[in-house]
Amino acid sequence: SWTMKGFIEEAQEAIRRQVGEHGRVICGLSGGVDSSVAALLLHRAIGARLQCIFVDNGLLRQDERAQVEALFVDRFHVPLKTVDARERFLGKLAGVTDPEKKRKTIGREFIAVFEEAAQQVQGAEFLAQGTLYPDVIESVSYKGPSVTIKSHHNVGGLPEKMNLKLVEPLRELFKDEVRVLGRELGLPEEMVSRQPFPGPGLAIRVLGEITEERLALVRRADAIVQQEIRDAGLYRELWQAFAVLLPVQSVGVMGDERTYESTCVLRAVTSVDGMTADWARLPYPVLERISTRITNEVRGINRVVYDVSSKPPATIEWE
Ligand code: XMP
Repeated sequence: SWTMKGFIEEAQEAIRRQVGEHGRVICGLSGGVDSSVAALLLHRAIGARLQCIFVDNGLLRQDERAQVEALFVDRFHVPLKTVDARERFLGKLAGVTDPEKKRKTIGREFIAVFEEAAQQVQGAEFLAQGTLYPDVIESVSYKGPSVTIKSHHNVGGLPEKMNLKLVEPLRELFKDEVRVLGRELGLPEEMVSRQPFPGPGLAIRVLGEITEERLALVRRADAIVQQEIRDAGLYRELWQAFAVLLPVQSVGVMGDERTYESTCVLRAVTSVDGMTADWARLPYPVLERISTRITNEVRGINRVVYDVSSKPPATIEWE
């Protein structure tokens, strides 16, 4: 009968068969569940012949890079190279406000940065991806006819261009099986049960122009949302909960001063697969805490609104 331990054994065998005794494998880490599980599985199979690459695109959430490094380097001793590409991405995104153009710009830049980093890995012939069974049978496209970059580890076009052979150890698994596998491999529960986070990151949660200052606002608001949702015990019930920064300013008051600052949207949804979603009926005390904390702690945001739209006709993200 099928067991996870049996799967791990067989998957390791299959990886060793495919890459041979000396083959080296590059794996892009996105900070999400799939690429993390793929990396740990590969590491078990081939040890230091795995080289992970994590691109800091400047669009990550608070502490995300440090968390990835702590987990993979300190805890699992997986060879990891972090590429600090924050300036490159922000430079390319300067003045870009169209959602589809943001995604394209980010996708292109990711491939360029990743390719450069991968070329420095001597003797690598293989590229690992955390492709799941649903990705194999149906490729998902996002909010634009020509945009098919699914996530940061889905580096479309790269293997052919660089002459790398694909290794996809999760391609027979569904998401829930990947989570079970992750637990079996020792991945901490916070990572195993993480809510989805889009490849283009905070860029599609800063409506309008992306600047370091505006990213910092949404990042701080988002950190408050994450913390309060976890503390309220709601994290696992929600498909996603996050903050969006609008290009809208409104009048507020602080002490006896009038303020004119940004508006932040709180978005929280329940969903089974992300294809349809319902806005979450969050308890008022949770809404209150989030709103109070954001407006008190994040200077530059003086108003928080709650999104009560379901998908369809709205989407989960605002861009
Ligand atoms: P929407 O906003 O279309 O999102 O209802 C459905 C799910 O997909 C995620 N999403 C993305 N994930 N790259 C990704 O990797 C993207 O460009 C992208 N756009 C949306 C979204 O977070 C939600 O879980």
